[in-house]
Amino acid sequence: MKIPSYEEAKKRSHEKVKIRNFELDKDYKNLGLNKKFFLKTYGCQMNEHDSENIKGMLQSMNFTEVDNMEEADFIILNTCSIRENAHNKAFGMLGRIKHLKEKKTNLLVALCGCMAQEEGVVKEILKKYKFVNFVFGTHNLDDLPKLLANSFENQKLNIEVYSREGDIVEDIPVVRDSKYKAFVNIIYGCDKFCTYCIVPYTRGKQRSRRREDIIKEVEDLVKDGYKEVTLLGQNVNAYGKDLYSDYELADLLLDISKTNIPRIRFLTSHPWDFSDKLVEVIKNNKNILNFVHLPVQAGSNRILKLMGRRYTKETYKELFDKLKSIDGISITTDIIVGFPGETEEDFEETLDLVNYCKYDSAYTFIYSPRENTPASKLKDDIPLEVKEERLYRLNELINKYSKESNMKMLGNTYDVLVEGKSLKESMLFGYTETNKLVNFKGKEDSIGKIVKVKILDAKSFSLDGEEV
Ligand code: SAH
Ligand code: SF4
Ligand code: F3S
Repeated sequence: MKIPSYEEAKKRSHEKVKIRNFELDKDYKNLGLNKKFFLKTYGCQMNEHDSENIKGMLQSMNFTEVDNMEEADFIILNTCSIRENAHNKAFGMLGRIKHLKEKKTNLLVALCGCMAQEEGVVKEILKKYKFVNFVFGTHNLDDLPKLLANSFENQKLNIEVYSREGDIVEDIPVVRDSKYKAFVNIIYGCDKFCTYCIVPYTRGKQRSRRREDIIKEVEDLVKDGYKEVTLLGQNVNAYGKDLYSDYELADLLLDISKTNIPRIRFLTSHPWDFSDKLVEVIKNNKNILNFVHLPVQAGSNRILKLMGRRYTKETYKELFDKLKSIDGISITTDIIVGFPGETEEDFEETLDLVNYCKYDSAYTFIYSPRENTPASKLKDDIPLEVKEERLYRLNELINKYSKESNMKMLGNTYDVLVEGKSLKESMLFGYTETNKLVNFKGKEDSIGKIVKVKILDAKSFSLDGEEV
């Protein structure tokens, strides 16, 4: 039993991060024979990718995946803490699972991911959800086979969550959701401590993967026919800082570019660490896509300061302008409304910034207080109706600019990586280099390839076209 602590999760040690390879104990290899698992994932791409590793480990233990929770012998929830909504969904799901477990007593249930790292959540599970078999965190994903094997023997609730980050584990088996696009972690954790955000506590200290391990993973993906990689990290622009003295994200991108993978994206960029070299590398390399997700969060300097974002709207605009000078670039963002103390004037500054940047698209959120973060201790006296109304106004503006940027594409032809059949009958779908969704008429054997598509219609969230 190892229970997480808020105090420990805050600390940053100077100890060197260990790197080791995943090994599956041979005793666990047939543990899943004739057994089915159901996995539900909440949260960001990082969690989705962790789930690909969870599936990989379970498959190497011979478990079979099912999409219906009623059929499963093992249910695992990979959870997210970012907003209350994600939190409530996972607890709601636990409620449903409880009923299942009453009927099927040998069902095993596990919870992992960011919520598992929260002291408050673990306490609640210990009090109210004792039927859960085991809980493990983001720092010991690779403990899954061992914990699962233990639970087959002893059904009593086991909590195995470490607040301090663990080793970097290479070569965890992976079952990828796509045959054409792949996520590749380049940096774990986050040291930015934006005042509203729980991630630095749930994902630990910033740790870069070795460049040779990343490059090897991409080379293998190229051999397997992958067309696109998305390099993942909470702040990819910090890549290398903890590991090398003169090797940064721009250098890594250049090295990955040489693998000849047709498309490289990276997520997410904190504006504060965006170097000029990085701007140049995006500009000058065809396979480093002209697409940057650059979360701004707010347009008022007072709020940005309270958020601990360490840039001002002026420096953000300066960076934005540099990027915008790259031909055909698409820039997207994240915005939070209703941060504690946000006045109508502050909010209007956010609208002004959106009017300036005219983003291709944006994710917008109402501020959600997260337990134990500095912002959750600030007085928040803005009524929910006001926050909702601000979100509505913001979304109207965001959608207007999304539509405008899509309209500019009308009549032109773009490269689209075709992912499959669209929900609309006899159509295919895929994404442009700038990450725009296109539904189009095309040949079925184009699936998995990059083809030319002419844009015939533009909406706020997608484009229609035909293969040429
Ligand atoms: N590392 C990324 C963001 C990860 S979280 C970055 O720094 O940009 C994704 C988005 O969720 C954030 O950009 C932010 O807009 C939003 N978010 C994070 N914490 C939040 C909170 N407490 N309430 C509402 N939105 C939040
Ligand atoms: Fe959260 Fe800020 Fe880190 Fe992004 S950079 S994960 S918003 S603390
Ligand atoms: Fe959620 Fe954790 Fe990602 S809190 S957004 S799953 S890093």
